[in-house]
Amino acid sequence: MDENFTIPKHVAIILDGNGRWAKLRGLPRSMGHKEGCKVVEQTVEDAARLGIEYLTVYGFSTENWKRDAEEVGALMMLFRYYMKRLLGIAKENNVRVRMIGDRSRFDEDIIEGLNALEDETAMNTGLTFVIAVNYGARDEIRRAVTKIAEEVREGTLAPEEITEKTISDHLDTAGMPDPDLLIRTGSEMRLSNYLLWQNAYAEFYVTDVLWPDFNRAELEKAIENYNGRERRFGGVIKK
Ligand code: IPE
Ligand code: IPE
Ligand code: MG
Repeated sequence: MDENFTIPKHVAIILDGNGRWAKLRGLPRSMGHKEGCKVVEQTVEDAARLGIEYLTVYGFSTENWKRDAEEVGALMMLFRYYMKRLLGIAKENNVRVRMIGDRSRFDEDIIEGLNALEDETAMNTGLTFVIAVNYGARDEIRRAVTKIAEEVREGTLAPEEITEKTISDHLDTAGMPDPDLLIRTGSEMRLSNYLLWQNAYAEFYVTDVLWPDFNRAELEKAIENYNGRERRFGGVIKK
């Protein structure tokens, strides 16, 4: 990749197409998810090497619970396995892991695994890898509004003091910069309830590549495309 390229500080990814990838090969959908997990691991390493500061990957949405029990079960088993592997990868690559979404709906052992991933990597100073599981932006905003309402009820916050920053600070992504580049694999051009507030000004890159086929070259292609954009915020060009 051209060394003069600007590396986006925060890259958000909607990984999609695992099911289609498996179907094309006559395999069960769960095999697509398994391949997809390997690609997540590889992408964490690639992002760390490229100097990306924040990588936010959408792994399981609040809507994904509606899928067949068999598929949801297979995804939970994969989480269990890959959470443990991810801990090793995070340690090796100085990666800090953070989870966004509502973890309370998961089984106890998965919650413990997510907590351990965050706690044991909290002191790492490289890439922040954010995994969005049981995540839905509307649910995140609803939870933020509840927290803000409680502060108002307790008298620690006045309604007229609520700013955009107050809202950002109560979202799961509190303290993180907004995404600069949003990548979606699998060709669909929709947000699917992902980071609705935070993606207000993200540059959107959609590729036909299915998630299990995504790799470092594809990530670099997205960054190259991002470098060709003229970023505007309300008509003002950002240098
Ligand atoms: C993305 O792949 C993974 C999850 C949402 C868990 P899909 O499972 O949505 O794959 P397609 O879109 O059906 O191909
Ligand atoms: C988006 O993929 C959610 C995740 C990647 C976790 P979906 O396949 O669930 O989204 P839709 O149904 O195409 O919008
Ligand atoms: Mg899909």
